[in-house]
Amino acid sequence: MPRSVLLNTHVGILPSGFGKALLRNGRTMKKIEAVIQPFKIDEVKQALMGIGIEGMTISEVRGHGRQKGHKEVYRGQEYNVDLLPKVKVEMVVPSERAQEVVKALSEAARTGKIGDGKIFVYDVAEAIRIRNGDRGDAAL
Ligand SMILES: Nc1ncnc2c1ncn2[C@@H]1O[C@H](COP(=O)(O)OP(=O)(O)OP(=O)(O)O)[C@@H](O)[C@H]1O
Ligand SMILES: [Mg+2]
Repeated sequence: MPRSVLLNTHVGILPSGFGKALLRNGRTMKKIEAVIQPFKIDEVKQALMGIGIEGMTISEVRGHGRQKGHKEVYRGQEYNVDLLPKVKVEMVVPSERAQEVVKALSEAARTGKIGDGKIFVYDVAEAIRIRNGDRGDAAL
């Protein structure tokens, strides 16, 4: 019996929290979401391309961390406002690549100053390529 069929059969009896992220092929995926300084986006993109990451979503966002109400420098200017421009980078990758991505991303995004940003890692239940119905990590 193929491994995928065996895993499907047994998903129902796995402890909760484990089965949810288990794909038909037995592999799991993680979403890595990073909020970084806008001027770091090119360096971060290069670092991610350098380790073979292909799909990603990038958005312009605004946010604040724990220095809410304190001054932070953006493009040489000090801002008093508590929501500063940031860039959000989102990628879904096979779980076994997640730590490598976090490392490349944090090294490329770090200046060592406040406001460098944050990385959040999530379990991903499913991915589907709309064009042809590929699922799981085959869809990444
Ligand atoms: N707990 C959080 N939840 C969601 N977004 C966050 C959180 N913390 C930070 N962010 C986002 O990350 C951006 C950068 O956060 P920042 O690096 O200033 O975090 P910090 O905890 O204040 O760390 P540091 O002391 O290094 O500045 C924020 O502007 C916000 O968009
Ligand atoms: Mg901060």
